[in-house]
Amino acid sequence: MEQYIMKGGNPLAGEVLIGGAKNAALGILAAALMTDEDVVIENLPDVNDINVVLEAISAIGASVVRIDRHTVKINGESIHGVSVDDEYMRKIRASYYFIGALLGKYKSASVPLPGGCNIGSRPIDLHIKGFRALGARVEIEHGVVMAHAIDLVGCHIYLDKASVGATINIMMAASLAEGQTIIENVAKEPHVVDVANFLNSMGANIKGAGTDVIRIRGVRRLHGTEYSIIPDQIEAGTFMCAAAATRGDVTVRNVIPKHLESISAKLTEIGCEVVEFDDAVRVVGKPNQTRTNVNTQYYPGFPTDMQPQMTVALALADGTSIVTENIFDNRFGYVDELSRMGARIQVEGDVAIVTGVERLTGAQVNAPDLRAGAALVIAGLAADGYTVVDKIGYIQRGYEDFEGKLRGLGAAIEKVDSEKEAMKFRLKAG
Ligand code: EPZ
Repeated sequence: MEQYIMKGGNPLAGEVLIGGAKNAALGILAAALMTDEDVVIENLPDVNDINVVLEAISAIGASVVRIDRHTVKINGESIHGVSVDDEYMRKIRASYYFIGALLGKYKSASVPLPGGCNIGSRPIDLHIKGFRALGARVEIEHGVVMAHAIDLVGCHIYLDKASVGATINIMMAASLAEGQTIIENVAKEPHVVDVANFLNSMGANIKGAGTDVIRIRGVRRLHGTEYSIIPDQIEAGTFMCAAAATRGDVTVRNVIPKHLESISAKLTEIGCEVVEFDDAVRVVGKPNQTRTNVNTQYYPGFPTDMQPQMTVALALADGTSIVTENIFDNRFGYVDELSRMGARIQVEGDVAIVTGVERLTGAQVNAPDLRAGAALVIAGLAADGYTVVDKIGYIQRGYEDFEGKLRGLGAAIEKVDSEKEAMKFRLKAG
């Protein structure tokens, strides 16, 4: 089983190039199937979740040509079925985007109920409510969501929660419905806007993405396009928190600083120096960082996907911080692992009370999910001595060459597959 082994203590320093946004790419790849013409997608991150989706796209008959590591050409003309069912897709939350895309184009889709990171209950009732409002019949049988419609007809939908997935999914199906659809209380995350821009570049007529109300005028068909995915807000934020926790000096490049404002604000509050450039942000950690409170919220609030990484920075700041998780109901699963490294954190329901400590100590820990896994790596890089992070498959789902990028910043970290390789790393790191 692959693991990360690292020796902590080096402040991270230098520049790191941020890749394309995984969560935008997952929506965009499904949306690319909605035309029979060529779609070229650039700045695609080379991470496991994306590669699984590309395999599923091939499996239903679409052509997928990898032009280079970060560019793919997709053509959906040869799709021969609307049933997406492979064992890997069941593990990926974003498999639900195939429902909106295929239902929009073929008026029929059959997709296994999504899995994904174990961060709490993750229903898709709002997606289904939207498809039904558009006129589809939706049933769930044997773990598979089956949606069919004679015609999709524009409608007025109110989302009870500003769900990213439901907003994107309904937006895709409604792009090829008859007439106007208005979706209220939608998600405003940068990746929602990116998927809307992508669909518009294919000829869709979507207005208002990035505000609370999206209006979609259905079109008869979509056409081919070339599109470059926005930078990954969460990958960038992860390196920013790594700079803070290790008291380093890191510049994240190829980012949209506006998307990082809530993260920059929190890092400034704890005493880091944060400097914004046109397409880069520099974070300089300081020896005496101090407490703050963090409340996860929908965009533009502080992202739930940054909560574990920020908590690691707070675990090493003076004073007591309160971290409140408002989006998911089980996103403190990593706290026990962090406690084994010497962190002082008490969880009560949706709240973590973090009492800063002067130092963490290396330990063997398990990544419980994608972002928490990245947070444990940050903790290991800030800790004294060696840390081994197991179950790194979670991390590889969403971070491209995480260890390579960290090494580029001076981290002593290696991906190993055996005790012998781990021993070799220890001997080399001294
Ligand atoms: C997306 O998940 C992301 N995943 C998640 O990223 C991210 O944590 C989340 O948005 C919040 O930003 C992808 O984009 C593939 P939601 P999603 O629907 O769409 C409730 C990562 O680490 N809800 O916005 O599944 C839900 O339970 C991952 O990259 C319903 O009640 O999240 C949650 O409390 C993990 N009914 C809230 O809404 C529904 O039908 C927000 O969930 C849908 C959601």
